[in-house]
Amino acid sequence: MSLKEAATKVRENAHVPYSKFKVGAAVRTASGAVFVGCNVENVAYPEGTCAEAGAIAAMVAAGETEIVEAYVIAGSPMPVTPCGGCRQKLAEFAKGDVPVTMATTGGREQKTTVGDLLPGVFSSAHMES
Ligand code: THU
Repeated sequence: MSLKEAATKVRENAHVPYSKFKVGAAVRTASGAVFVGCNVENVAYPEGTCAEAGAIAAMVAAGETEIVEAYVIAGSPMPVTPCGGCRQKLAEFAKGDVPVTMATTGGREQKTTVGDLLPGVFSSAHMES
């Protein structure tokens, strides 16, 4: 299944009673496996989680840590961009040149990279002594 298909399918499961804004995300790892996530909101609003965070959590739970491609889709007028926190989460498991496709359910797609999404990323190199 393509990342587009996987992200589109999981998006339907999003739990969004508050924003009504469904997001689906899919990541492919170095092994070729695909992991998916959708946003899961909570009545305590800050406890909600993004689609990207769900996909990354599923990947790590399965024992994988190397993202080679990512795809995010929402029913937005323009391709949905990962929030700041999710850019940092992607950067934890993806090199800067990893492609990220941002899409709309209407068929628009915009391609970028993890590095372009988060210039000046905070990395473990900053913590070296
Ligand atoms: N959201 C995501 O899941 N991913 C994004 O890339 C952008 C925003 C979710 C969070 C919240 O459930 C809803 O979209 C509105 O912000």
